[in-house]
Amino acid sequence: MPNAYISGTGFFVPPRVVTNDDLCTAYGIDTNDAWIQQRSGIKERRFAAEGVGCSDLAVHASEQAIERAGLQKTDIDMIVFCTLSPDQMFPGSGVYLQRKLGLCDVGRFIPCLDVRNQCSGFLYGLSTAVALINNGSHRHVLLVGAEVHSAALDLTTRGRTVGVLFGDGAGAVVVSATQEDRGVRGTYLGADGRYADVLSMKVWNIADRPFIPVDADGFGRLEPLTMYPQMQGQAVFKNAVERLLSVVGESLQKHNLTANDVDLFCFHQANLRINEYVREVLHVPPEKVINNIERYGNTTAATLPSLLFEAEQNGQLRRGMKVVLAAFGAGFTWGCSVMDW
Ligand code: ACO
Repeated sequence: MPNAYISGTGFFVPPRVVTNDDLCTAYGIDTNDAWIQQRSGIKERRFAAEGVGCSDLAVHASEQAIERAGLQKTDIDMIVFCTLSPDQMFPGSGVYLQRKLGLCDVGRFIPCLDVRNQCSGFLYGLSTAVALINNGSHRHVLLVGAEVHSAALDLTTRGRTVGVLFGDGAGAVVVSATQEDRGVRGTYLGADGRYADVLSMKVWNIADRPFIPVDADGFGRLEPLTMYPQMQGQAVFKNAVERLLSVVGESLQKHNLTANDVDLFCFHQANLRINEYVREVLHVPPEKVINNIERYGNTTAATLPSLLFEAEQNGQLRRGMKVVLAAFGAGFTWGCSVMDW
């Protein structure tokens, strides 16, 4: 059975930087830099320009990951695309990425799978990619997490609790087959649908007839509460801490490891306070945990691949290191992956 390892990483954020102060001055939100930094650790985020969708951001990150894996685009034999902000309702963003990468009709038509598991999407996608490689059916899976949140945030004072937390970006990895004794050792996933409504965006209800209310002229009309994500922040915080601690603890135990044995932890970038708390309870020194939320905000499915890319670039992530990835998000869903880089 081939092992599955990450052979290349890529990352792309749109050029426009939006600082916490910009949220006040450019958007008129009644917030301030101190509140946002103290509650979340975020200093700035990136917003994509109008006309840019998540598959556009994903193209850049994917090309970089493929190049850094030493591969040609045509070596990719499957795309797994993780996002909560797809280009549109359907089809999924995977087929758009395939087209934008020039991978249609190049002698074969590779499959494209879309994963809708929010902040845990990358780990759900990783688990799928690894299974496809372990069973011998695929050799190089392009796994992407990409989000354009800025188009669907309530960037007014009404939506400030959620609006200040998120940013746009894309991260990608290539998951490849190898006979070497390395790679992903295990990925452990969980979900608790009792909390499905605690963090959600119900832009339509397919049980309604029609699924979006229409006015007398037949035009769809949406209330702001329906248009934008809604979150019970304190419930998310409490559950995130509990689930991250338990899934990391159980995953380490399965591999007879302690936190001491791990060289690098990459936690989902939802909130610096969540990650700091988890780090302290696990007794992990700060230098073994990497964060980039201060520069990009929460980029949901893109956070973990973006951390891997940056850590590789700055030398914090090297061949042979024991790495743990963990995430928690809407659903609630969560996961943890243990790997030898
Ligand atoms: N700027 C200034 N004031 C604000 C803002 C803002 N952006 N947002 C809310 N406030 C105010 C509120 O109106 C409230 O004022 P009041 O006391 O006068 O009524 C006060 O700040 C406290 O509001 P709370 O909602 O209770 O703030 P809390 O301390 O819970 O912090 C936060 C909110 C940061 C969202 C926190 O609950 C949290 O970190 N939750 C975790 C959620 C998270 O990380 N989500 C990310 C997405 S999910 C994921 O990826 C896992």
